[in-house]
Parts: sequence; structure tokens; C-alpha cells
Amino acid sequence: MHCTRKVNDNLIWVGADDRRLACFEGVYGVPDGVSYNSYLLLDEKTVLFDTVDKAVFEVFFENVAHALGGRKLDYLVISHMEPDHAATIEGLLLRYPEARILCNVKAKGMLSQFFLTDYSDRIDLVKEGDVFSAGTHELSFFMAPMVHWPEVMMTYDRTGKTLFSADAFGTFGALNGRLFADEADFFTENLGEARRYYTNIVGKYGPQVQAALKKAAALDIAVVCPLHGFVWRKDFGSYLEKYQLWSTYTPEENSVMLAYASVYGHTENAANILAAMLCERGVKVRMYDTSVTPASYIVSDAFRCSHLVFAATTYNNGVFVTMENLLHDIAAHNLQNRKVAVIENGSWAPASGKLMRELIAPMKNIEFLADNITLKSALAAGQEGALAALADLIAADIGAGA
Ligand code: FEO
Repeated sequence: MHCTRKVNDNLIWVGADDRRLACFEGVYGVPDGVSYNSYLLLDEKTVLFDTVDKAVFEVFFENVAHALGGRKLDYLVISHMEPDHAATIEGLLLRYPEARILCNVKAKGMLSQFFLTDYSDRIDLVKEGDVFSAGTHELSFFMAPMVHWPEVMMTYDRTGKTLFSADAFGTFGALNGRLFADEADFFTENLGEARRYYTNIVGKYGPQVQAALKKAAALDIAVVCPLHGFVWRKDFGSYLEKYQLWSTYTPEENSVMLAYASVYGHTENAANILAAMLCERGVKVRMYDTSVTPASYIVSDAFRCSHLVFAATTYNNGVFVTMENLLHDIAAHNLQNRKVAVIENGSWAPASGKLMRELIAPMKNIEFLADNITLKSALAAGQEGALAALADLIAADIGAGA
């Protein structure tokens, strides 16, 4: 049975929620689910913006048929060829044999890669700045390469002042009946998942996001329709401010993200003592055990906080595996502009501090605040002073930046 919602009288959301997916892209846990958004414009021509993941194909096709109300589908706009939006293109084109495709040349190449079918006879290629008239609605196309794949394209409906933003401005989390961000307590309940979505999915591509934001700044936008999560019709400026920070690798807050990897609890104990000392000095701390919390949550708070502390034991003469994976992940997401401190542990040959620095140092504009603190098995008598000195240093630095 169909389940659709009107964005307005001419535009209908025909997407679907998936609450059973364990890991988005096979790696990012989505305990609150995820939505795959698709939108149908009803004008003299009918225009569908993207499709959905194969997991929700059944309700999607029911939604499209219901929203068309017996009309034929004239056009499919392809913004992005990642299969969470493109997996059902082949099924759609079989159901609507007269439908034509509006896409750019890079998307066309990927179509034949994914579906082993040459859709050349059904494709009308579009490029940057092209305008397509659906009747009263004029659609113009803007390339947004690497937000999040090279073929990504945004569409602006100048009549409806609507931006179809592809992956940009999406969020993890099922819609649960709500379509608009103003129907949820977005900034208190959903911002965390929006941050985790942004940082992990497109965090690596800050300059490309900045380029797309500059293009969008020239448009008169009343409604933003992303491919995941809520549609924006109010307070978009507040969300845009977050994107400006995230895409320029600017911390959202003066605070500490403290991540530790501990086998028998001694490194954890030092991390706990440092966290308590920081809190006593008025510093906000966000603390994670890398063996417990999936990396995507820690990456997200690494983008959020100004100061990062990594504490890990030495293991197999290297960095304990969950911390090593986390640091690779943070570096892969291109995080920059952070103040960092390192605590290492090793009962006979501590090496994790040096190795953690080697993983962190290549990131841009990283400042190590102090020499590594080295534990040998456990915090030694008198070594609390070293943690207190680090806490003083961070507190002073945050105070200076506040
Ligand atoms: Fe939601 Fe990059 O696909």
C-alpha cells in the first residue's frame, strides 16, 4: 500500500524508510533507520527525482504509481548513481517504458556499468546551467562533483524555489511519518545523526561541498529536498551554518573528544582521570572507548570538538587495533585544524604514542599540544601530575580560544 506525502501541491515525496538496515554502506550502523527520498513533480510533464534502494522497491513503485494518478511518467532526473538511490532505475524504466532520463555524461557512464544496459536511446544529457521546462516549472542543473560521487548533480526548480540537493543536507534516521525538519525537534534530537551522516559520508570532501554551497548561495531557495532525511522549508539557515563549519573543518565547539583503547583498564583509568581533571577545569569532554563505540560516532565528534586526546596501549608492537582503525578513519575523512594530545601505554616497549603521532601528523593543520604521556602498565605514582599539566594546558588553550 502506498505511503506518500506532499511537499506542496505539485511535488510529492514518494520515498520510503528502511528501519531494518544494520549498516548503511555496509559500515555505518543506523539504529534509527534511514530514509531513501524520491520526489515526483506533477507539471505538464511528470518528473521523478531519483529512485530508492532496492530494499524498499515495492512501496516505492506503489508510491510512484499512486502519485502519478494514472498519468505516465515522462522523465527521471538522476542526481546520483550510488545504488541507495539508483538500484531501482532499471525496474522503473521497465515499468514506465516511455520515461526518458535526464542525467549528465558521468551518470550515463555509470548507468551502463551498473545495469549492463545501454540506455542511450532514452537519455537526454544535461550539463551545468542547462534549463529544462516541465511546463510551468523550469529546472536548472548544477554539477556537484564529489558530493558525494563524481557524477553528483543538483537540480534547482526556480518556479518552486526548490533545491534537489542529492546527498547534501541529508541525515541518518527514518522519517517516521515526518517529512519536514520543522515537524521534528531537529536541532535537539536529529542534529547528531545529521552530523554523523555528513562527516562519515561526505566529510572527506569539504572543498567540494564548499564549491556546491557557493553555487547554491546564488539561488533563491525556499525548499531543500535531500535524498535522505528531512525536507527543509524553515530554519534552513541554521542547518547551513553547520555545513559551513563541517565543510571547512572548523570545530563547532571548544571541547575535548577523548578516545581511548584499553585492554585491561589501565589506559582507561588514565583517560578517566584526565577527563575528570578537564571537567574540574570547566572543559566539556566527549569520551569514547574505541573498542565499544563504532568509529563513525567518534569521527563525528572529532569533527565537532576543537581538541582531541587519543590514549592507547601498545599491541603487537603497534597501536591497539581499534585505535589504529579509528585514526586511519579520521585521517581518511580529511579532518584538519585540531589541537591534539597523545597518551601511550606499554609494559615493556611502549610504541603506540610514536605510531599514533605518525598517523595523525599528516593531517592538515594539526598541533600537538604536548609531548606524549607514557604509561608503563599503569599510571605510576606521581604521574598524575603529568595528566594535571595536560589538563591545565588544554583548559588554558580552550579558555584562550573561547
Ligand atoms: Fe545516499 Fe551517496 O548516496
